[in-house]
Amino acid sequence: MENQKGQVIVVAYPAQGHINPLLQFAKRLASKGVKTTLATTPYTIKSIYAPTVRIETISDGYNQSGFNQAPSLAAYLDSFKTVGSKTLAELILKLNASAGSPPVSCIVYDSLFPWALDVAKEFKIYGAVFLTVSASVCSMFWRVVNRGPSLLMLQETDDDRGLVNMPGLPPLAPSELPSLLSQPESETQSPYLAVILEKFSKLEENDWVFCNSFQELESELLDEMLGLWPLVMVGPMVPSAYLDQQMEGDIAYGASLWEPKADQCMKWLEEKTLKSVVYVSFGSMAEIAAKQVEEIAWGLKASGLNFLWVVKDPEEKLPDEFLESVGQAGLVVPWCNQLEVLGHRSVGCFVTHGGWNSTLEGLSLGVPMVVMPQWSDQPTNAKFVELWGVGVRVKKNEEGIVSRDEIEMCLREVMGGERSGEIKRNALKWREAAKRSVSVGGNSDDNINEFVAKLSMPKE
Ligand code: UDX
Repeated sequence: MENQKGQVIVVAYPAQGHINPLLQFAKRLASKGVKTTLATTPYTIKSIYAPTVRIETISDGYNQSGFNQAPSLAAYLDSFKTVGSKTLAELILKLNASAGSPPVSCIVYDSLFPWALDVAKEFKIYGAVFLTVSASVCSMFWRVVNRGPSLLMLQETDDDRGLVNMPGLPPLAPSELPSLLSQPESETQSPYLAVILEKFSKLEENDWVFCNSFQELESELLDEMLGLWPLVMVGPMVPSAYLDQQMEGDIAYGASLWEPKADQCMKWLEEKTLKSVVYVSFGSMAEIAAKQVEEIAWGLKASGLNFLWVVKDPEEKLPDEFLESVGQAGLVVPWCNQLEVLGHRSVGCFVTHGGWNSTLEGLSLGVPMVVMPQWSDQPTNAKFVELWGVGVRVKKNEEGIVSRDEIEMCLREVMGGERSGEIKRNALKWREAAKRSVSVGGNSDDNINEFVAKLSMPKE
């Protein structure tokens, strides 16, 4: 059975927000009888535990600690392209030579690796890109590419309110666009933009374009883009046990680049009452300025609510006075198992940066959100959280800071304010929709089944 379905290599960018959805996709394929290998960098492997998936290395050229060793982001992405292409090709040869396994028939690659499609072509096998952000955000990049690279979104503010109008999307203020589009000249962001634009210029050359989202969530956009671009919704890539305890399978992503304080968090949460805790986390990449961290601290304190806060360097960032005053009401940890925390009955609100995985996790687990976007796709995700009615967005003051008063106000609104009942009802509605999409007969599950069925047919 397994031998008839071919073999898939899933290639993941070595960042937490990329490994999680790609590893989850690899596990879903494996659960459907497809021989699946996850390819990642040598220094990432020790953080992965996924018994149903084979884990193999490819190289980015910096095998000790990757990106941190590289002179710049541009140099890193360049090195990954050269060394990654070579080592991915070697991996295919190695897997093809192993006895008892079907030959590799498809590469599913992270959207930051457009070069992986060339490797698939070289071997005359299927190539599929996996988009780790929302279809709405992807559609914006797609439009930029298809209208000429010089035509960035900001020049499309044809609206006298200064809003950007794009088919299938709500009118957006420039500040609600992905930061890669609203600030394309930024030094740290532009190398990513170059890779992303390259990928969207070659979208049609892929045999599949997978997106970690689901049809019901972005149905207006999908209707609008129908026939224009190839997109297959397969998400949300959240381990199945969190979506439905009756569903078989995963209770974790199986990858954590930092050691989670899992027992400490669970023990602390166990002592709290139903939905009384605010969980605060800004993902794996965002660097929050000390001044902003301080405002969050005092905002949490002023709310009088219990909170569990992930801060990688608490001694450096948090005021001593705050740490001393926290007592039993708060727990600060450097890293946690986010799904386990969000799935705990004591958690009633998620203060998030709006990274796409965190957004999908909050939505899929039915936890109301307060979104404090930092960069990348997060400003757009924050807008959608409000449109889906599952949370609120914070507002910055004139200094570009979210004040303690604003944080306190948003927390009160979501936890017990006038709109909190409606927000909770919407959160439960979307939780059900997420579950439906990945359950047997759901749209995302059907899409994955169709892909699996085609894998056994040779590429023409
Ligand atoms: C990045 C970008 O910032 C994001 O906008 C983009 O959509 C994907 O890549 P990141 O910033 O890390 O990712 O955020 P997010 O997408 O939310 O991913 C973070 C992941 O880390 C989540 O899956 C979350 O469950 C996990 N996490 C976070 C933990 O397991 N423990 C923690 O303490 C914090």
